Amino acid sequence: MRISIIGCGYVGLVTGGCLAAVGHRVTCMDSDGERVRGLMGGHIPIYEPHLDELVAAARGEGRIEFVGDIRLAVENADAIFICVGTPPLENGEADLSAIEMVARGIATQSRGSKLVIEKSTVPVRTGEQLRRALQVYGRASDARFQVVSNPEFLREGSSVCDFLHPDRIVVGVDEPPAAEKMREIYRPILERNFNCPVHRGACPPSDAPHFVVTSINSSELIKHASNSFLALKISYANQLADLCERLGGDIEEVTRAMGMDPRIGPQFLRAGIGFGGFCFPKDIQAFYRLAERAGVDFMLLKEAERINKERIDHFLEKAKRALWVLKGKQVAVLGLAFKPHTDDTRFAPALEIIRRLLAEGASVHAYDPQAMRKTQALYPAVHYCLDAYESATGADALLLLTEWPEFVELDWKRIHGLMVRPLLLDGRNLLVPAKMRELGFEYHSVGRPD
Ligand code: UGA
Repeated sequence: MRISIIGCGYVGLVTGGCLAAVGHRVTCMDSDGERVRGLMGGHIPIYEPHLDELVAAARGEGRIEFVGDIRLAVENADAIFICVGTPPLENGEADLSAIEMVARGIATQSRGSKLVIEKSTVPVRTGEQLRRALQVYGRASDARFQVVSNPEFLREGSSVCDFLHPDRIVVGVDEPPAAEKMREIYRPILERNFNCPVHRGACPPSDAPHFVVTSINSSELIKHASNSFLALKISYANQLADLCERLGGDIEEVTRAMGMDPRIGPQFLRAGIGFGGFCFPKDIQAFYRLAERAGVDFMLLKEAERINKERIDHFLEKAKRALWVLKGKQVAVLGLAFKPHTDDTRFAPALEIIRRLLAEGASVHAYDPQAMRKTQALYPAVHYCLDAYESATGADALLLLTEWPEFVELDWKRIHGLMVRPLLLDGRNLLVPAKMRELGFEYHSVGRPD
């Protein structure tokens, strides 16, 4: 089956790269000419572990190509994955204009039968609109379209592994043959029949993925419902952390024991400065807007969002309590990305914290292993450092804002010696409090006893 991907953002590149890695021939299209030229020259515009090796290998074997013209992506394809962005509008709803534009392009350039797969995160009922747009704009041709919803559950930083070793593949269809075509596309992954570029033949044992066939509306709901539930879990842990701080308890001890109950599960209970990224903050908003329009007041989601926003105020209050005045203070920041193993800073809590520190007159000396290039354009006033040690030199406080594993390995004794005042605020509960205090730090974290 010949596969095309429309949209070479993060989801498109991971989808295209992984489908090529499991043996398909893939054409990736993007309307951004510069991005396409870069990709043709082997430049992957995002940092995502394993993605560059995967794409380079597929290019070497002639299984992936990059084009800028939608006609080239559509004419020979049997299956077309729509992976364009659906950014938030001012009112929180998803902007679907890119999807509509792509639908028009597919409709006018197609001949024969095409499977059109909605991979972008979209509100429920987008499939219906997509089908209508394909029919309306394709009425002059002999093209026939089967629309499928196939949400992605990839996590940035581990998306290649997530794509190749999913727990479930959800396909929303309104005719069974479309589901069979999707099963064909995913067969190497369902049967684990590919050379895994991540584990190189030594994939850890796990259950075979579920292949879940639903209606298109249910499939679209599954995506939003899953992301929102995970966001709820995080906000629950964060609110519990507040309670631990007030009443004397340790959030790590509480969530650890809670997570041992398989009905609760240990994941997404890490308290800290809140969730960021391009998915949870926008998806939770889009989901409650959608519910509102359907006449359902999904207050639970609004609360989760409110609790999340409060994290930053709460953390900065702690910083202020310790520092007294922020104006004129030198603050070291470790971590800019919204989570480790990515260079993505969209809706990153670290950036909002930096914005407020600068507004209050502090000077910020920041370091992140991957995300500095993307932050520089947004925050030119920040002093970007070569490493954590440079950022700590002369600092009145150090704020740890992304839990990169390499931060655990830093020589903290050396950092202590470099700082003017050894005040450490750990927004991700990454470090061991007793160890930091033993080194002489005044150490504060989230929901753990000070
Ligand atoms: C999220 C979902 O986990 C994916 O399943 C989904 O496919 C993706 O959104 C998407 O819709 O594209 P992602 O945003 O890449 O993935 O990252 P997560 O690992 O979910 O983390 C999101 C945010 O929550 C990060 O800021 C992270 O630091 C925060 N988080 C996560 C916590 O604060 N506590 C936790 O316990 C877990």
